[in-house]
Amino acid sequence: MSNVAMITGASSGIGEEFARQLAARGHDLVLVARRADRLERLAAELPTKVHVLPCDLGADAAALPARVEALGVDVDLLVNNAGFGNHDRFWKIPEGRDAAQVRLNCEAVVTLSRAFLPAMVDRGAGGIINLSSIFGFQPMPYEAVYGASKAFLLSFSAALRVELKGSGVRVLAVCPGPVATEFQETAGVGGIKLVGKIPVERVVEQALRAYDRDAGSIVPGGAIRWFTRAQRLMPQSLTLRMSEKFGRPEKLRKS
Ligand SMILES: NC(=O)c1ccc[n+]([C@@H]2O[C@H](COP(=O)([O-])OP(=O)(O)OC[C@H]3O[C@@H](n4cnc5c(N)ncnc54)[C@H](OP(=O)(O)O)[C@@H]3O)[C@@H](O)[C@H]2O)c1
Repeated sequence: MSNVAMITGASSGIGEEFARQLAARGHDLVLVARRADRLERLAAELPTKVHVLPCDLGADAAALPARVEALGVDVDLLVNNAGFGNHDRFWKIPEGRDAAQVRLNCEAVVTLSRAFLPAMVDRGAGGIINLSSIFGFQPMPYEAVYGASKAFLLSFSAALRVELKGSGVRVLAVCPGPVATEFQETAGVGGIKLVGKIPVERVVEQALRAYDRDAGSIVPGGAIRWFTRAQRLMPQSLTLRMSEKFGRPEKLRKS
């Protein structure tokens, strides 16, 4: 029985923590991200067999499955974690950056899922964990493309899960609230106060427990989970107004 987890975006933040916790559970790993030095350093610290595959998933995701096959491993858990956001008015974000976001946050997930699912279905075991976000639950002013990309992952994961019912293969969508990682710096809001933030260890612990019980989706954390539930009962006009007010770029950068 294969016991290999492949984690995209394992060079920092949530992906790095998935690598640590999955290795502690005894999984061999395939780690993917662009920064090879970071992946090599992490691999050297982990207790199980780790393959490092540097890859720009925004450009080369389609070539990755063949590189994994060449390693001679069967991936039985795919963690589609690599992703980034941009916080600004859509038309002010440098041209091409939002399209790159769609290629990484959505297209690479589809490409990798399509490549690795058939073997999981044949084996009747394994699964996919997709990193969505609480921003996937509603349109997000000033993160318009990011929010839409995370809504895509929620929809994709839920539909896939139904198609896979009875196959032995699981799909989990993880929807964290704010987590202090390199994400904020990359999104152009480094240093902001993260209200309701959750430690990265807790995000991954809760995600893996949700995967174990085949929960379908999880909002890690306590308070943020209840806030999200309440928010989803509110009219969209109200949640949009709230998000617009709290997310206004000039205001966030001053906080
Ligand atoms: N932090 C939060 O508040 C938060 C909340 C909800 C959801 N999430 C989601 O959680 C996931 C992980 O985010 P994080 O917070 O851990 O952010 P992070 O620390 O910035 O990590 C992002 C990871 O994605 C990788 N990555 C970025 N572009 C890539 C590319 N083109 N090809 C391959 N890998 C690439 C990065 O590695 P390289 O730079 O080495 O390529 C890095 O390992 C993302 O999908 C994010 O949307 C985060």
